[in-house]
Amino acid sequence: MDGNGRWASDRGKPRVFGHQQGAKTLTHIIRSCPKYGITHLTVYAFSPENWQRGALEVNALMRLFQIYLRAYMGELDRENVQIRIIGERSKLPTVLQRMIEKIETKTKNHTRLVVQVALNYGGRDELLHAAETLIARHQNTKTPALPLTQEDLVSALWNPSCPDPDLLIRTGGEMRLSNFMLWQLAYTEFVFLPQYWPDFTADDLGQAIAQFKGRQRRFGRIPTEQNAPESNP
Ligand code: IPE
Ligand code: MG
Repeated sequence: MDGNGRWASDRGKPRVFGHQQGAKTLTHIIRSCPKYGITHLTVYAFSPENWQRGALEVNALMRLFQIYLRAYMGELDRENVQIRIIGERSKLPTVLQRMIEKIETKTKNHTRLVVQVALNYGGRDELLHAAETLIARHQNTKTPALPLTQEDLVSALWNPSCPDPDLLIRTGGEMRLSNFMLWQLAYTEFVFLPQYWPDFTADDLGQAIAQFKGRQRRFGRIPTEQNAPESNP
């Protein structure tokens, strides 16, 4: 969800105004997911590097996360939407951590849509954390450390039950990953869009999905009828 700050600056407003608008955009996008057949949505909300922004912006973002989690808990629950937070949550404000626990518990059995919010999330941190988890598991259970399988590593990611993304969309014009889901994106299709996140609409999402459907996904294999465009999920 990139481009909130630039969206606000273009309007002569403080960056925080862009984040407020970006949060509204997210509510529209979440509501539009089921009609596109999306069952899992992960949004990148805050990276470990984002702490280096000024205290004013960081505090405003932390407040915004709390306001939105509190305001939408009821609707998400009623709409059968599961909320998961991925990232190093111990560094988040305690009241936000409590709220995360509450909404995760309340929505944990919901199945219509899983929304993962990446909060203080770094792809490298996730892999380091997974390595630590595997070592600790080995030490605690005396199970053999080697050989290590891909499934073992996946089991130690922040949310092992989330399938790898089919499609990554980055708004705001930059064409890089910025430390997002480094393991999970191995075979993901990428769509980079120039518009800033507050301007991103459900129609834009539909167009990105249409682009995705035109891609031939081969997963390293040679073309077959199965992986031809249009047979994409
Ligand atoms: C993305 O918008 C939202 C967060 C990182 C919280 P930015 O804040 O990165 O906006 P730009 O890239 O400065 O325009
Ligand atoms: Mg940015």
